[in-house]
Order: sequence, then structure tokens, then C-alpha cells
Amino acid sequence: MLSFKQLLPTALGSTLLLSSSLLFLLACQNLPQQKLRSALPAQALQGFAQRSNAKNFPNVPVPPQNPLTQAKVELGFRLFFEPRLSANNQMSCATCHDPQRGFSNGEANAAGVTGQRGHRNVPTIYTTAWYKTQFWDGRAGSLEEQALGPIENPIEMNEKLENVVRKLGEVPYYRSKFQQTFGTTITPQGIAQALASFERALSQKPTPYDRYIDGDMSALTPSQERGMIIFGRQAHCATCHKGLQSTDNKFHNLGVGMNQPKPDLGRFEVTRLAEDTGAFRTPSLRNIALTGPYMHDGSLRSLEAVIEFYAQGGIPNPYLSNEMNPLNLSGEDKADLLAFLTALTAGDNLKEIASLPGVQLPGERLSPALLSLR
Ligand code: HEC
Ligand code: HEC
Repeated sequence: MLSFKQLLPTALGSTLLLSSSLLFLLACQNLPQQKLRSALPAQALQGFAQRSNAKNFPNVPVPPQNPLTQAKVELGFRLFFEPRLSANNQMSCATCHDPQRGFSNGEANAAGVTGQRGHRNVPTIYTTAWYKTQFWDGRAGSLEEQALGPIENPIEMNEKLENVVRKLGEVPYYRSKFQQTFGTTITPQGIAQALASFERALSQKPTPYDRYIDGDMSALTPSQERGMIIFGRQAHCATCHKGLQSTDNKFHNLGVGMNQPKPDLGRFEVTRLAEDTGAFRTPSLRNIALTGPYMHDGSLRSLEAVIEFYAQGGIPNPYLSNEMNPLNLSGEDKADLLAFLTALTAGDNLKEIASLPGVQLPGERLSPALLSLR
């Protein structure tokens, strides 16, 4: 197969190359945004250092009610790793959303403080900031709205918010940090705003694909370039995984789990619309190489398995998306597609956030992940 550069006459130069390659992949970029860059100081943004020209970088949307500030990111960082948020003081957000496992847990689903398991895969925190709705079925609107859910959820952290406020109030750091950040005592609303701010700050690191889009033609290998074309055309992945944030923020039935005796009905549970049966929100593919296993039930162990799943056209069922049809992909096409998916991965800026001057790590029960940051 021809490499992407060979597809266009060389005389056209890199400008046209860029604009034409992007148009079909990125046609639907339309983010209301506040530039994170202007809201955070230099140290928080070391992840940007390699990026000279960030015009195409998808800055995360920030709601006007919760402007991004360094103090909130610092506090949210600490709260994310804080086991006092759980009933037995042993489970933090990071227990399930583990930084060493792509902010997921490497398993098909997760057990909460009581040992009871949910039936859904732990989504990564890397990509949450790009979504218009939270959870696989989109039942929460914003990160702020989502953040307190797991604390009170009986099969997750199983703790009352009033207990959390009391326990955090015993720690001088939290009392002064809430005063400094919000000018108030410790409140559930402040906890939610700080956690959401940390989540927004986390994914601000350019992938090789972002750099390519910005004009660094050496950022992708020839195989990744071919994979990019397959992603946009033959395999039309970009129909749903749109733009640099690689999601249309819509819900589709791919048939995942529909062959089980009691399928998870997904979006239908929220809207009660027949057409939403078995439909789930299109996940962003940023940092996808780090966040397996895949799909809402964690049923696909590897990206190779995901590509095979799409090649076969998903799993037949009465509600299958019209976009799901068997794909005619050669072995080389599949390898190129896989190579392209890895080019969407950049890691995170957790270390940069951890080294902000105002960040204080929990004094006790330090997780191995946090220890390795120091
Ligand atoms: C017991 C494991 C567990 C703990 C603890 C936990 N989560 Fe989750 N989290 C999950 C699972 C499972 C889902 C997906 C649930 C669903 O979609 O129905 C999820 C979903 C999310 C989402 C939505 C992501 C998306 O792609 O839509 C966010 C954001 C999130 N969690 C943040 C947090 C925060 C913040 C904390 C701590 C306050 C936390 N989680 C604690 C397991 C956990
Ligand atoms: C019809 C819209 C649609 C198309 C086309 C599509 N996807 Fe998806 N993708 C989704 C949805 C929805 C999910 C989640 C499905 C679920 O869990 O039930 C998903 C899940 C994934 C996942 C797993 C993400 C995770 O975090 O678990 C990967 C990887 C992926 N898609 C890659 C691709 C590739 C590669 C292609 C092209 C071959 C493609 N997708 C085409 C909508 C789509």
C-alpha cells in the first residue's frame, strides 16, 4: 500500500498535506473551551513543553461555574488518592482508577469496599474531561456531578458525605487548603470541584498524532500514517471516534454483550428509548494503549481483539448500529490500524502535577503508584 505522503503530489507541500488529511478526520471538532494554558502556571504545563504550536490541541472544555485554578488541581490531586473518602478508609478513587494501569484497574470490572462487584469496566480518567456526559451510559452530566457518586455508591466507596467532611476536617492540610481554595470550610461541593479540576488537568499531554496534526510529519511512522487513513476511510472508525478527542459523544450499539443471557441495556436504562437498547457512549481513544481491557464489560482483552471485533462487524442483534458492517481488512491493514491506535497514546502529566509546590501527598497508606512519583 502507498504511504500517505505518496498519495499526494510532493509539490503541494506540507500545508495542503495537513489540511487535506485533517479535514475528514477532524471535521467535527467544535469545543467550547477555556484554554487550560492560560489558567495554570508553567509548572503544571510541562507536558506542553514539546509542543511549540498547539493550535490543534484539543483543550479540555471547562465549565464557567468551576474555573480551573492551580489550587483546585492540587487539592483534587490529593483527594483522588485519599482513602478517607471510603467507609473503611482503605479505598481511594485511585484504587479503581490506578495511574499504573492507565487510570483503570486492568480488570473487566471492579469490586468496591464490600467486595461486591459492579458489572461495568472501569473507564480511564484520562479521557473523562472530553465527554459531554459521564459513565458508559451517560447518566451523569458533568464531572462535578459525577465526582460524589462513587463515594456514596454502596458497591463502591459506600461512605456518607457528612462522614467524609468530618474525617477530612481532622486533617489540618484539608482545613487550610479548602479555606485557601474556596474561602470556605470543607464542603461536598468543594470536593467535587477539586476532583473535577484534577481530572481536567490530567490529560493535557500531546500524543504523536497531535504533533503530526500540528505539522511534525516525523511524529507518525509510515505504518501509523497508513493506519490513520484506514481509521478515517476503509474502516470509518472516525465516523464515531471523531476529531482529536476521538468521540462523537453519542451512543451506539456495537453488539458488545448482546449475546449474553441478560445483556446490559446501557443507554436504554437512562432514556427508556428502544433505539438506545444496548447503546454505550463512544469512548475517546486517547491513551487507549494503556487502558485495557476494552468495552463497557471489559470483554475484549487487547487492541488486536478490538480490531478483530470490528472486522467482523460487531455482534448481530436487532439494535445493531447501521455503521457496523464487516470490514474488508488485510493482515497488513489491521497491523497499520493497531500502529495508529498506539499513536494516540501520550501518557499523562501526573508527575508534573505531583511536583507542583502546593501538592501534599497523603501522609499515610501511600499507594505504590504515588511513592514512585516522588
Ligand atoms: C470501586 C471502584 C471505583 C472507585 C473506588 C471509583 N470508581 Fe470511578 N468508576 C468506576 C466504574 C466501574 C465506572 C463506570 C460505571 C458506569 O459507567 O456505569 C466509573 C466511572 C467513573 C467516571 C466516568 C468516566 C467516563 O468515562 O464516563 C469518572 C469521572 C470516575 N469514575 C471518577 C471517579 C472518582 C473521582 C472517584 C473517587 C471519588 C472514583 N471514580 C472512584 C469504578 C470506581
Ligand atoms: C458506530 C460507531 C463506532 C464505530 C464506527 C467505531 N467505534 Fe469504536 N467504539 C464505539 C462505541 C460505542 C464503543 C463502546 C462500545 C461498548 O462498550 O459497548 C467503542 C469502543 C471502542 C474501543 C474500546 C475503548 C475502551 O475504552 O474500552 C476501541 C479501542 C475502539 N472502539 C476502536 C475503534 C476502531 C479501531 C474502529 C474502526 C475499526 C471503531 N472503534 C469504530 C463506537 C464506534
